[in-house]
Amino acid sequence: MKRLLALAAAAFISLPLAPAIALDAQPGAPGAGDPYFPDQGNGGYDAGHYDLTLDYDPSSNRLAGVARISARATQALSRFDLDLVSTLTVRSVTLNGRPAAFSQSGSELVITSALPAGRDFSVEVRYDGRPTHVVDPDGSRDGWIRTSDGVFNANEPQGAMTWYPGNHHMTDKATYRFSVTVPSTRVAVANGDLVSKASKGDRTTYVWDSREPMASYLATVSIGKFQLTDTRVGGYRVITAVDPKLADGAKDFAERHAPVLDYFSSLFGPYPFSSTGGIADHAPEVGYALEAQSRPIYPRVPSESLLAHELAHQWFGDSVTPALWRDIWLNEGFATYAQWLWSDKQGTGTVQSSFDKAYARAADDEFWQTPPADPGGPAGLFHDPVYDRGAMTLHVLRRAVGDDVFFRILRTWASDHKYGNADTAAFIALSERLSGKQLDSLFDAWLFKPGKPSL
Ligand code: ARG
Ligand code: ZN
Repeated sequence: MKRLLALAAAAFISLPLAPAIALDAQPGAPGAGDPYFPDQGNGGYDAGHYDLTLDYDPSSNRLAGVARISARATQALSRFDLDLVSTLTVRSVTLNGRPAAFSQSGSELVITSALPAGRDFSVEVRYDGRPTHVVDPDGSRDGWIRTSDGVFNANEPQGAMTWYPGNHHMTDKATYRFSVTVPSTRVAVANGDLVSKASKGDRTTYVWDSREPMASYLATVSIGKFQLTDTRVGGYRVITAVDPKLADGAKDFAERHAPVLDYFSSLFGPYPFSSTGGIADHAPEVGYALEAQSRPIYPRVPSESLLAHELAHQWFGDSVTPALWRDIWLNEGFATYAQWLWSDKQGTGTVQSSFDKAYARAADDEFWQTPPADPGGPAGLFHDPVYDRGAMTLHVLRRAVGDDVFFRILRTWASDHKYGNADTAAFIALSERLSGKQLDSLFDAWLFKPGKPSL
């Protein structure tokens, strides 16, 4: 009590220099508690909106950014972290409009704060530098990946910290606004809806609004000499960006989206975002595509199967997002199963034949040693078992519960967890609830135990 009074008095005297720190204030945790990436994300607050103003010069790779983040303290804070690689230099930080003390160490930007639990706050970070990609535990690259004419920006699982400060674990979803200025010879493409494009001198600013909550690994700001189209096809706003080097093969790129989305909507429920489309960049050095929210990014013109995979992720991965990286089969197994469904629909191979082909792997094949619901650590996130055995799991479930119940499970999964996060246990519980069946042995054999399950 005495101390409280003294603190209050001190706070009163020193007003408005520093607000009093609540006695129970603690530093926010430097990680969100994901065993695969312990430093990813942070504790003690919940981000609600990111307003990112970026200025980029592709020839020098110089990025200058202002990140304004609206958040709410979930505990009394004495300080909190944002994730940002230290190759980018933070120049200033303000908290609710006032200068705040900060330091950078490793990929943590530590901001000294005094925030009571429940308080809304805004933090503004000014930073600049020459961004670069990160190398992931599996040897692949993600983040700010430079191309001959700009940037292929894909951020799964940890690239977001290479270009803006944030709470970079997928459990903290937020809305975004991107305002990106590039030389007028380039185009900057991001998630969501293009709201304006304005040129001044030889530079052009593109503003994008992403109004549905998004995990930061799904954000993209990709830059290149793109041909940008913004059209309406079959009730969808389709925004595509195509590298001129790919133009010949991409003539119908925009038109190809609606049939896939219509089919998936009929199976999974309404398409969850206000626009769709994709970025077809010529980036042969990147070995994967990514389901960036509402605007997947491809290193080439996607095949029909790859297009279906990334569009299926809009429901499974983007709208419903795992709670931990370990649950990644909920993304990749589902998107792979949707590829099988789309091939079947197109008459290029039945779901059963896709299953049979995947199941035909010999019992002593290394493939069967990794259970999809725990791929053994971050290096296993994007390995075949997560994709193919994950998809096989869904097919086995479908055969056990029947088509009606199976598709009801998928639709309920998409609607119950729309714009949220969910884990494998929740999927098993839902499957058991809607089917009225005990499914432990099925899921144990297919998701959790090494070895080839028998049929
Ligand atoms: N989620 C992507 C897909 O649709 C794969 C991302 C791979 N990322 C990486 N850093 N290797 O399959
Ligand atoms: Zn995928």
